[in-house]
Amino acid sequence: MTEATARWQPAEDAVDPALVPQRRLATGATMPAIGLGTFGSDHIPHAVVAEAVQSAAAVGYRHFDCASVYGNESLIGRSFEDIFASGLDRSAVWITSKLWNDKHGEDDVIASCEQSLANLRLKYLDLYLVHWPFPNHHPPQCDVNQRNPNAVPYIHENYMRTWRKMEELVDRGLVRHIGTSNMTIPKMKLVLRDVRVKPAVNEMELHPHFQQPEFVAYLKENGVEPVAYSPLGSPARPERDRTPEDTSPLEDSVIVRIAERMRVHPAAVCLKWAVQRGTTPIPFSTNRRNYLANLRAVTGDPLSAEDMQAIAKIDRNCRLIKGQVFLWKDNQSWEDLWDLNGEITPA
Ligand SMILES: NC(=O)c1ccc[n+]([C@@H]2O[C@H](COP(=O)([O-])OP(=O)(O)OC[C@H]3O[C@@H](n4cnc5c(N)ncnc54)[C@H](OP(=O)(O)O)[C@@H]3O)[C@@H](O)[C@H]2O)c1
Repeated sequence: MTEATARWQPAEDAVDPALVPQRRLATGATMPAIGLGTFGSDHIPHAVVAEAVQSAAAVGYRHFDCASVYGNESLIGRSFEDIFASGLDRSAVWITSKLWNDKHGEDDVIASCEQSLANLRLKYLDLYLVHWPFPNHHPPQCDVNQRNPNAVPYIHENYMRTWRKMEELVDRGLVRHIGTSNMTIPKMKLVLRDVRVKPAVNEMELHPHFQQPEFVAYLKENGVEPVAYSPLGSPARPERDRTPEDTSPLEDSVIVRIAERMRVHPAAVCLKWAVQRGTTPIPFSTNRRNYLANLRAVTGDPLSAEDMQAIAKIDRNCRLIKGQVFLWKDNQSWEDLWDLNGEITPA
């Protein structure tokens, strides 16, 4: 990646992007090992998120995680336009977007990507993900009981039809990489068996209370980079994604103790851990102090081997983004989305 210096002025307190760890993908491309999330969890105004994107670029972020369903791509596009007009080279920034569940149809994939490109005011995306492996969708701000009347289970043949169009996006040069999200090992095995263009990453929930060590290892062995969403345990997630059993990694005594010793916020400990274990966290924040601190966390002092071991022991297998709204029949449990017995849950 190169950075044009024309008129681009980083903030005075910016982190040097050259210090940010990078992931080398199977294609040889590099992706910054931390990005800024842009899902406002249905309550942060789109303009506030767009403003954060612009200011985050000025403090040193070079990786942004967008999606059409977040509803804010057209405002974020104005931020990108300003950023690149100010002289930052497009090639210095990694930009992801995602295909929403209602656009899995063969005629919809390319049009949907083109719409995201138009909204984001870009000629290409670095990464385009299939947001969920189901075509089941929900309206923004829906509650946990909302179901799509046409909802279906994972149907591999259908997913591969969608994937062929994703591959075509690469062929056409509209996207540099394609990837999956919210997958499981059994689904991933089938996909890796049948693809022509491999997924470069799988985006998945990962934080100290939901570590998914087996899946992370499987992805690494297969050259797929794990991107960690909700890396802080998504403290402001929508109501539909909350249950009484949920726990908070930011409040875990092991995380808090390490944070106190290092004189950082527990969020910094979660992010150091995420990067040091080889994943790529994409924390959301619209608070300048917080998103700057998050970038500093992964360029500052690392956790010790003892800290890493202590955090490995606090996994609670506590999935927070359960996805109930994507279930396909009555009386199902959210676990059915996640193939817990090692096989794809039958219809
Ligand atoms: N692929 C998918 O299906 C999927 C699903 C969920 C999320 N995602 C992506 O992952 C991103 C991140 O996940 P998330 O938004 O669910 O949760 P998250 O990043 O774990 O948590 C974000 C929350 O943490 C707070 N925060 C951030 N930095 C902080 C700090 N240093 N100190 C204290 N609080 C801090 C933020 O508040 P402030 O704004 O006040 O800092 C915000 O409320 C999303 O924005 C989205 O891009 C993808």
